[in-house]
Amino acid sequence: MFDPYYRQPMTQPEGSGRRPVEVRGLVKRYGRVNAVDRVDLTVESGDVYGFLGPNGAGKTTTLRMLLGLIHRDDGSIRVFGRDPAADPVTALAGVAGFIEEPRLYPYLSGRANLELLAALDLGGAGRKEIDEILELVELGDRAGDKVGEYSQGMRQRLGLASCLIRRPRLLANGVDPAGIRFLRALLRRLAGEGMTILLSSHLLAEVQEVCNRVAVIDHGRIVHEGALADLETGGSYRLQATDIARAVDALEPLDAVAGLRRELDELTFTLGGDEDTVELTRALADTGVGIRALVREQTTLEDLFFRLTESDADLREAEAAIA
Ligand SMILES: Nc1ncnc2c1ncn2[C@@H]1O[C@H](COP(=O)(O)OP(=O)(O)OP(=O)(O)O)[C@@H](O)[C@H]1O
Ligand SMILES: [Mg+2]
Repeated sequence: MFDPYYRQPMTQPEGSGRRPVEVRGLVKRYGRVNAVDRVDLTVESGDVYGFLGPNGAGKTTTLRMLLGLIHRDDGSIRVFGRDPAADPVTALAGVAGFIEEPRLYPYLSGRANLELLAALDLGGAGRKEIDEILELVELGDRAGDKVGEYSQGMRQRLGLASCLIRRPRLLANGVDPAGIRFLRALLRRLAGEGMTILLSSHLLAEVQEVCNRVAVIDHGRIVHEGALADLETGGSYRLQATDIARAVDALEPLDAVAGLRRELDELTFTLGGDEDTVELTRALADTGVGIRALVREQTTLEDLFFRLTESDADLREAEAAIA
């Protein structure tokens, strides 16, 4: 079957054996704001990499530097082994993406937008390929309508189609609520076919389902980077006990227990790892509280994010108190 994304160019672009993204010590300042503060990112070939963080964390600023759209103040960026600031044409060959809204002509149809892009791109996609990509992003039946009449989600999908007609090796995209449900299956499929994908989003739970690796950024700093499998230790727990009020008294003083909350006859909290569980069960036993159930909930990125940003806030508070 014809495969629109993976057809290799006649000659392999230089640096094709290199890592898709290698960012080290990246810094961007706006006045006194460190929008991006010594960021390191490593995206391996075939990753679906989630670049996550709350509003204003520095995601867009990082991606803009990665795509050579703004200058950095410090640090290094390599895209397939090349610096997009020094060598944008070569570094960004094989890279497609849009950060906030895709650039589309509202008074042209979806298909005409893609045809125009294909015509601008030497060796661009033919009519058959464009039809296939329109089907893939589920715009086949609306392809003849003006983009100005599309919903936000449809514009995002057409934006994705406009990236795919360039047959990128690396797709770097922002993801918003309108696009996420649809993207999940498609991104998995594209990754399965060998495309490397870098997704930037503040939608943690949604992105968790599609990514194999994540970096979490907060106030310009990376607070976690790693495989999602690394999140398996610790996490959120539910406790049912013989005496909830006494259980609260026993757990409150423990450093191991964070975010302690009472919900009717249950307690919920987070623990950092197995040793914390031991400490908790001992503390309960010492006060004569019996455990009816202690259940670990699957760790979500939201838990992780809560833990990371909460401890970060504590740290800043402590720093402020000292200063
Ligand atoms: N052009 C600019 N001038 C001044 N400050 C800026 C500029 N662009 C970004 N910032 C600041 O840099 C910080 C990071 O912004 P950025 O847009 O990268 O965040 P983000 O993670 O993309 O957030 P969101 O999820 O809301 O898109 C913010 O404090 C923002 O106000
Ligand atoms: Mg942004």
